[in-house]
Amino acid sequence: MSERTLVLVKPDGVERGLVGEVISRIERKGLKLAALELRSADRATAEQHYAEHEGKGFYEGLLDFITGGPLVALVIEGPRAIAAFRQLAGGTDPVEKATPGTIRGDFGLEVQFNLVHGSDSVESAEREIKIWFPTL
Ligand code: TYD
Ligand code: MG
Repeated sequence: MSERTLVLVKPDGVERGLVGEVISRIERKGLKLAALELRSADRATAEQHYAEHEGKGFYEGLLDFITGGPLVALVIEGPRAIAAFRQLAGGTDPVEKATPGTIRGDFGLEVQFNLVHGSDSVESAEREIKIWFPTL
Protein backbone atom coordinates (compact mmCIF):
# COMPACT_ATOMS: atom_id res chain seq x y z
CA MET A 1 0.00 0.00 0.00
CA SER A 2 1.33 3.40 -0.99
CA GLU A 3 1.87 6.20 1.50
CA ARG A 4 2.56 9.90 1.12
CA THR A 5 4.85 11.94 3.32
CA LEU A 6 5.85 15.58 3.60
CA VAL A 7 9.52 16.39 3.14
CA LEU A 8 11.23 19.73 3.56
CA VAL A 9 14.73 20.58 2.41
CA LYS A 10 15.24 23.21 5.08
CA PRO A 11 16.91 26.60 4.43
CA ASP A 12 20.36 25.23 5.33
CA GLY A 13 20.00 22.49 2.72
CA VAL A 14 18.94 24.97 0.05
CA GLU A 15 21.70 27.43 0.99
CA ARG A 16 24.31 24.67 0.79
CA GLY A 17 23.14 23.44 -2.59
CA LEU A 18 21.95 20.04 -1.36
CA VAL A 19 18.49 20.03 -2.97
CA GLY A 20 19.62 17.82 -5.84
CA GLU A 21 21.43 15.47 -3.45
CA VAL A 22 18.29 15.00 -1.34
CA ILE A 23 16.01 14.50 -4.34
CA SER A 24 18.50 12.08 -5.85
CA ARG A 25 18.48 9.95 -2.71
CA ILE A 26 14.66 9.97 -2.65
CA GLU A 27 14.52 8.85 -6.26
CA ARG A 28 17.23 6.22 -5.90
CA LYS A 29 15.33 4.74 -2.95
CA GLY A 30 12.41 4.19 -5.34
CA LEU A 31 10.10 6.86 -3.97
CA LYS A 32 8.15 9.08 -6.37
CA LEU A 33 7.70 12.84 -6.33
CA ALA A 34 4.07 13.91 -6.00
CA ALA A 35 4.64 17.64 -5.41
CA LEU A 36 7.65 19.93 -5.30
CA GLU A 37 7.95 23.67 -4.65
CA LEU A 38 10.63 26.20 -3.76
CA ARG A 39 9.07 28.64 -1.34
CA SER A 40 9.43 30.65 1.84
CA ALA A 41 7.69 29.70 5.05
CA ASP A 42 5.90 32.56 6.79
CA ARG A 43 5.63 32.57 10.56
CA ALA A 44 2.06 31.20 10.62
CA THR A 45 2.97 28.24 8.41
CA ALA A 46 6.04 27.48 10.51
CA GLU A 47 4.01 27.64 13.74
CA GLN A 48 1.45 25.23 12.33
CA HIS A 49 4.11 22.88 11.04
CA TYR A 50 5.99 22.75 14.35
CA ALA A 51 2.94 23.08 16.66
CA GLU A 52 3.95 19.98 18.65
CA HIS A 53 7.15 21.73 19.76
CA GLU A 54 5.58 24.99 21.00
CA GLY A 55 7.05 26.01 24.35
CA LYS A 56 10.21 23.92 24.04
CA GLY A 57 13.60 25.58 24.47
CA PHE A 58 14.51 25.25 20.80
CA TYR A 59 11.12 26.38 19.44
CA GLU A 60 11.81 30.08 18.80
CA GLY A 61 15.19 29.39 17.23
CA LEU A 62 13.63 26.71 15.07
CA LEU A 63 10.94 29.11 13.80
CA ASP A 64 13.52 31.81 13.05
CA PHE A 65 15.63 29.29 11.19
CA ILE A 66 12.84 27.72 9.15
CA THR A 67 11.44 31.14 8.13
CA GLY A 68 14.92 32.56 7.48
CA GLY A 69 15.33 31.61 3.82
CA PRO A 70 13.85 29.65 0.94
CA LEU A 71 13.11 25.98 1.45
CA VAL A 72 11.90 23.18 -0.78
CA ALA A 73 8.68 21.43 0.16
CA LEU A 74 7.91 18.04 -1.37
CA VAL A 75 5.33 15.34 -1.14
CA ILE A 76 6.80 11.95 -1.92
CA GLU A 77 5.04 8.64 -2.22
CA GLY A 78 5.61 4.92 -2.29
CA PRO A 79 5.32 1.82 -0.12
CA ARG A 80 6.18 2.76 3.49
CA ALA A 81 7.23 6.23 2.31
CA ILE A 82 7.01 7.74 5.82
CA ALA A 83 9.47 5.32 7.44
CA ALA A 84 11.55 5.09 4.28
CA PHE A 85 12.25 8.81 4.22
CA ARG A 86 12.95 8.92 7.98
CA GLN A 87 15.52 6.19 7.29
CA LEU A 88 17.09 8.24 4.49
CA ALA A 89 17.17 11.35 6.72
CA GLY A 90 18.74 9.71 9.76
CA GLY A 91 18.26 10.63 13.43
CA THR A 92 17.46 14.17 14.53
CA ASP A 93 20.97 14.96 15.83
CA PRO A 94 23.30 14.67 12.82
CA VAL A 95 26.27 13.59 14.93
CA GLU A 96 24.88 11.80 17.98
CA LYS A 97 22.01 9.95 16.25
CA ALA A 98 22.29 10.01 12.47
CA THR A 99 24.71 7.50 11.02
CA PRO A 100 26.94 7.98 7.98
CA GLY A 101 25.06 7.08 4.84
CA THR A 102 22.04 9.13 5.88
CA ILE A 103 21.38 12.70 4.74
CA ARG A 104 21.89 14.17 8.21
CA GLY A 105 24.75 11.83 9.01
CA ASP A 106 26.60 12.69 5.82
CA PHE A 107 26.00 16.44 5.70
CA GLY A 108 25.03 17.75 9.15
CA LEU A 109 26.87 18.89 12.26
CA GLU A 110 24.30 20.65 14.44
CA VAL A 111 20.83 19.57 15.51
CA GLN A 112 19.13 22.80 14.43
CA PHE A 113 20.79 22.63 11.02
CA ASN A 114 19.84 19.08 10.16
CA LEU A 115 18.89 19.78 6.56
CA VAL A 116 15.63 17.92 6.11
CA HIS A 117 12.24 17.29 7.64
CA GLY A 118 10.13 14.18 7.16
CA SER A 119 6.72 13.43 8.65
CA ASP A 120 6.90 10.93 11.53
CA SER A 121 3.53 9.12 11.22
CA VAL A 122 0.49 8.72 8.97
CA GLU A 123 -1.36 11.32 11.04
CA SER A 124 1.53 13.80 10.87
CA ALA A 125 1.90 13.26 7.13
CA GLU A 126 -1.79 14.01 6.50
CA ARG A 127 -1.68 17.08 8.71
CA GLU A 128 1.57 18.42 7.22
CA ILE A 129 0.63 17.81 3.58
CA LYS A 130 -2.51 19.91 4.20
CA ILE A 131 -0.39 22.75 5.59
CA TRP A 132 2.07 22.90 2.69
CA PHE A 133 -0.08 21.65 -0.23
CA PRO A 134 -3.72 22.33 0.69
CA THR A 135 -4.99 21.54 -2.80
CA LEU A 136 -3.22 18.17 -3.13
P1 TYD B 1 11.90 16.71 16.14
O1 TYD B 1 10.51 16.63 15.61
O2 TYD B 1 12.16 16.17 17.50
O3 TYD B 1 12.95 16.00 15.14
P2 TYD B 1 12.77 15.43 13.66
O4 TYD B 1 12.99 16.58 12.71
O5 TYD B 1 13.84 14.38 13.54
O6 TYD B 1 11.37 14.86 13.55
O7 TYD B 1 12.38 18.22 16.14
C1 TYD B 1 12.06 19.09 15.08
C2 TYD B 1 13.27 19.89 14.72
O8 TYD B 1 13.61 20.75 15.79
C3 TYD B 1 14.54 19.08 14.47
O9 TYD B 1 14.60 18.57 13.15
C4 TYD B 1 15.60 20.08 14.75
C5 TYD B 1 15.01 20.96 15.84
N1 TYD B 1 15.52 20.61 17.17
C6 TYD B 1 16.44 21.44 17.78
O10 TYD B 1 16.86 22.46 17.23
N2 TYD B 1 16.91 21.10 19.03
C7 TYD B 1 16.49 19.97 19.67
O11 TYD B 1 16.97 19.70 20.80
C8 TYD B 1 15.53 19.12 19.04
C9 TYD B 1 15.04 17.86 19.70
C10 TYD B 1 15.07 19.48 17.79
MG1 MG C 1 9.54 15.67 14.06
